[in-house]
Amino acid sequence: MKKIFITGGSGFIGRVLINHLLADGFKVHCYDLLKFRKNSKNFKFFKGSILDKKKISNALKGCEITIHLAASLGVLNTEKNNLDCLETNIIGTKNVLEISVKNNIKKFIFASSSEIYGEQKKFPISEEAEPKFKSIYGLSKITAENYVKSYNQKYKMKYNIIRYFNVYGEDQRQDFVISKFTKNIKKNKNLTIYGKGNQIRSFCNVEDAAEGTLEIIKRAKVNNVYNVGNNLEPISIKNLAKKMIKMSKKKIKIDMIDFKDSDRSKDREIYKRIPNISKIIKDTKYKPKKTLEQGIKVFFKKYAI
Ligand SMILES: NC(=O)c1ccc[n+]([C@@H]2O[C@H](COP(=O)([O-])OP(=O)(O)OC[C@H]3O[C@@H](n4cnc5c(N)ncnc54)[C@H](O)[C@@H]3O)[C@@H](O)[C@H]2O)c1
Repeated sequence: MKKIFITGGSGFIGRVLINHLLADGFKVHCYDLLKFRKNSKNFKFFKGSILDKKKISNALKGCEITIHLAASLGVLNTEKNNLDCLETNIIGTKNVLEISVKNNIKKFIFASSSEIYGEQKKFPISEEAEPKFKSIYGLSKITAENYVKSYNQKYKMKYNIIRYFNVYGEDQRQDFVISKFTKNIKKNKNLTIYGKGNQIRSFCNVEDAAEGTLEIIKRAKVNNVYNVGNNLEPISIKNLAKKMIKMSKKKIKIDMIDFKDSDRSKDREIYKRIPNISKIIKDTKYKPKKTLEQGIKVFFKKYAI
């Protein structure tokens, strides 16, 4: 039974991924600042920061695969606390790489982001697209990706890089768009959108993102980058708001707000994001399954709408 070391395992994607890993027969060493579940036969929690090499070393012992999810994220958070973002996402990644190599880890999986693509001209966005990131977070992720590739070059450490596209789910941080819309709908408050609301996103349910990650662990070609997302339902933020209002059957209006009052300034906004997922589909058994409507229904259920 393979033992996996997972950083950031107590986070939004990590918690769901750990359920999938345990169900698939893996043993898990979860390393995070926060504990989210009790230890059991196949699950062990280790508390610590990815900035603390000694603690990483202790938690990683005996593991064969590293999945590195721990990061500083959120547009507003990483712009405001950019030093923390750079330190956690770059130095932290370097630490996890260093300890993984020292312990002869067989494969290193790194969680990167579609933010590295920034604004593209060609859609859907394939892994070959030139990075045009606009944010500190995007910069930190592309730098960390380059560290991963350099460790492969120097130490022959095998890797996969995953670029997640707009993962969502009912247990997500509260500043995420579907969470914010759901909360307002619950309180019968207007929904707020920035600019004209014509920014296009392709939302990927966290269950699909976890399944994609598991597929990459099991079947992907090593030393490759993969987009993980759902390309089936690209939607503008305005249409997302309309869809959610319609599903709620409530009489709620949409407020259009200037970018200057949003959490992302206009020059940092990315207008269109649709993943090309043909590579992961070709190399693994991944296929996004959950529709946006199914995903939103789960949010509504949680908030009793
Ligand atoms: N959620 C998305 O839509 C999305 C999209 C693209 C990429 N990603 C990437 O996927 C990964 C997981 O994202 P998420 O949405 O689950 O985020 P999250 O914020 O819910 O989880 C991150 C976890 O990392 C932990 N962490 C943060 N700093 C740490 C440190 N110094 N030491 C140890 N642990 C630390 C946090 O406690 C948290 O449990 C991240 O690397 C993120 O950049 C997420």
